[in-house]
Amino acid sequence: MTETSRIASFARFSWGVLAYNLGVILWGAFVRATGSGAGCGSHWPDCNGEILPRAESIETAIELTHRLTSGLALVLVLVQVGWALRLFERGHLARRAAIAGVILMLTEAALGAGIVLLEYVADDASAGRAAWMALHLVNTFLLVAALALTAWWADAERASRALDAGGGVGWYVAIGALALVVTGMAGAVTALGDTLFPSATLAEGLAADASPTAHFLVRLRVIHPIVATGTFLYLVMASALISAARPDARVRRAALALVVSLAVQMGAGLLNLALLAPVWMQLVHLLLADVAWIALVLLGASALGAPRASAVTRAAIA
Ligand code: HEM
Repeated sequence: MTETSRIASFARFSWGVLAYNLGVILWGAFVRATGSGAGCGSHWPDCNGEILPRAESIETAIELTHRLTSGLALVLVLVQVGWALRLFERGHLARRAAIAGVILMLTEAALGAGIVLLEYVADDASAGRAAWMALHLVNTFLLVAALALTAWWADAERASRALDAGGGVGWYVAIGALALVVTGMAGAVTALGDTLFPSATLAEGLAADASPTAHFLVRLRVIHPIVATGTFLYLVMASALISAARPDARVRRAALALVVSLAVQMGAGLLNLALLAPVWMQLVHLLLADVAWIALVLLGASALGAPRASAVTRAAIA
């Protein structure tokens, strides 16, 4: 096998690891949405005191499946980092991203274990649980970013370009990433509110949102769509500015993917609200959030690696 084909196999494997992890993340949301987080009692890593229990209830089966599939996710990132360490020299961007992937997978597992051990499960409606869910979402986004970047930078040509954050591009990307993370955190709190305090009708839900006597998780629900709208408008503008600052086909494609996925996500959010957040719609909405996040991460990576507009114009004149 040549060096090029070994790297191509690694890149294919890495995109596969990313796709697999998106599946694990969706299943994790399914655990929350179906109230199955206590399916193994408050035991971790064992399940109800046994390593491999017979699933007595559907909740145990759902929670156990999440543990087994996330265990395999850990094995996959360990294989990935071992492979990256052998394939790429010290300092290579793909190697660094793969190392970050393992660290973030371990913190993800620790946050997941914390949910069970702190009993932030089933109908617990504490502020601690809300904060923990928001933190879990931040870690998940960072993990997805590390996995996407490992695959992206496995390409020798992309990794060989020096990163240049100048011309405002670094700021546009960083502010966009922060805004999307905050939107996701607010979404995680909304999702918890919807799971614990479901509304029978949209009118009843909206009335509860505005009621000063409602539970804080219900009153906080309104923040997410407002923050999401601001983030959407900012990222549409930032995508245009980044594309103008770094005229490059890859940057244009990533910017388009970001704007389209965000526009679809805004529609999905409204539908989520109108349908009173059924479980399938929660999963679609979370998947779209991850897709938009990956598009932003790859927009950042391609823009930081692309030549500035002034350099492109000079090259065209010469
Ligand atoms: C930039 C656009 C948006 C992003 C990135 C986003 C992201 C998210 C995320 C990450 C969650 C948590 C999912 C989970 O943990 O299961 C969530 C939940 C939620 N979002 Fe959004 N959202 C966006 C726009 C909107 C809009 C415009 C609305 C409504 C008008 C909305 C309504 C909801 C609702 C009702 C939930 C709770 C139910 C669920 O989990 O799906 N979202 N959002």
